Amino acid sequence: MRRTVIAGNWKMNMTPSATKAFIEELAPMVKGMDKCDIVLCVPFVDIATAVEAAKGTNIRIGAENVHFAKSGAYTGEISAEMLCEIGTEYVVIGHSERRQYFGETDETVNLRTKAALEAGLKVILCLGEVKEERLAGITDEVVTMQTKLDLAGISAEQLKNVIIAYEPVWAIGTGLTATPEQADETCGVIRAAIAGLYGEAAAEAITIQYGGSMNDGNAAELLAKVNVDGGLIGGASLKTDKFTAIVKAANA
Ligand code: PGA
Repeated sequence: MRRTVIAGNWKMNMTPSATKAFIEELAPMVKGMDKCDIVLCVPFVDIATAVEAAKGTNIRIGAENVHFAKSGAYTGEISAEMLCEIGTEYVVIGHSERRQYFGETDETVNLRTKAALEAGLKVILCLGEVKEERLAGITDEVVTMQTKLDLAGISAEQLKNVIIAYEPVWAIGTGLTATPEQADETCGVIRAAIAGLYGEAAAEAITIQYGGSMNDGNAAELLAKVNVDGGLIGGASLKTDKFTAIVKAANA
């Protein structure tokens, strides 16, 4: 039985004071909804506040990126050790906005993933096709290749701390959601790629989320699909009522 994980990705939103207020409001709303794991991935400067506010609740805290070096001359970057010391449990790696705007490649995504896993973080590894690739009919090849490259050198044991977020780039922040059938099909392709790399048992066990304009209106039908084990939620994770509705759908 694989775990459903509902994770918010706040992106560049919310100050520390807004973070505290948000979590204090959210915690009683999602209390007892334990059929899924609930994670908020927040900007670096909000993490310490978020960890403190989430103490004693069923909300876990993640970062939105991590550098692959242990330390050194990487101005502006944050290491896995730094994240761990302040109570971070998860980290989003390879988000399409990082790939699009900040030069992330499958190679750097792989390096970051390795560093995060070695430090004991759980990784939410994002991948997905762009619109042109979907239109050209090569989505399956693209996500299979990303799965292979992003996980290169990661052991079966380490894979237990990896969640994959399938995020079609054309659906992120656009209001265009993949249909439940499209989400199910492509999450299934990723699961088959995992089976090829790590075997059937690992493929059955890994949590594969869908992300891209998931909201309180469409979460239930997306989450009902057999290959969709949760969601990575951007816009709708910034409102406690919308995020709670998605958590509720995962608990139905
Ligand atoms: P969205 O973002 O829900 O706003 O489309 C999802 C994501 O970027 O993870």
